[in-house]
Amino acid sequence: IPLAGVIGNPVAHSRSPDVHGHWLKRYDLPGHYIPLHVEDIDLEQVLRSLPQMGFAGVNVTIPHKVRAMELADFISDRVTLIGAANTLTFRDGKIYADNTDAYGFLASLRQGAPDWNAAAGPALVLGAGGASRAIVSALLEAGAPEVVVANRTRSKAEGLRADFGARLRVVEWVTSGDQIADMATVVNTTSLGMQGQPALKLDLSGFKRGQVVTDIVYTPLMTPFLSEAKSRGATVVDGLGMLLHQAVPGFERWFGQRPEVDDDLRRAIL
Ligand code: ATR
Repeated sequence: IPLAGVIGNPVAHSRSPDVHGHWLKRYDLPGHYIPLHVEDIDLEQVLRSLPQMGFAGVNVTIPHKVRAMELADFISDRVTLIGAANTLTFRDGKIYADNTDAYGFLASLRQGAPDWNAAAGPALVLGAGGASRAIVSALLEAGAPEVVVANRTRSKAEGLRADFGARLRVVEWVTSGDQIADMATVVNTTSLGMQGQPALKLDLSGFKRGQVVTDIVYTPLMTPFLSEAKSRGATVVDGLGMLLHQAVPGFERWFGQRPEVDDDLRRAIL
């Protein structure tokens, strides 16, 4: 019976067991997907043991995404670009590392906003953490002519510019709202707007019809940021889609079935 799981510290908050569990049941597949709490110091030993215990692979969450990349035997181009791994597959005694966040981001936008075209104009990305790196790489690959990045700590945005090159432009965080009117795509990758967190305090009056706006926050589904964009006529895509779509490649590799992201799944996860 194929085994897979998610390793993190903490891991209890992870929605991945629900997502994979839903698909295992829906497709009536043999298999188990298990949350595994792993201390930093134990990561290497755990990764070497999991294949011996019958695991086909694991998802990796905070704080292990960078170390998992370093411990892998083979890493995808995407992992190199993003600098972190979230999906490991064990085969022939080797660890293959991938990062499916960029795929998940694009698949979610394409499902939620079928008319979206990255090449239609520049994109604004708020935030410069791990999620931002995946989303910036996805936008550049999808053909965005320019990606504008704003981050509270400007040096982290400058770091993305150093890694991703000339199509990336850094702007000041506090005035970044001024960019919105010129953007085809706008993405919040910060935790602002999440339940229990303050909302984004940027000027959001530039949102308009024809833009596609998305958030990585999904509690609540309709963040104040998305709600403002929607009220000004933009097309909005909530953050749950990215979470669900990024799980697809791992499930397919480990359990042998390409799963659907649909309303049944969304209802089961919320
Ligand atoms: P993730 O992997 O989800 O991207 P992360 O790497 O911790 O998480 O990044 C969090 C992002 O949210 C960062 O861009 C962070 O800005 P800083 O680099 O300045 O810390 C941003 N963020 C978190 N809280 C914020 C706040 N109160 N105001 C502005 N930005 C915030």
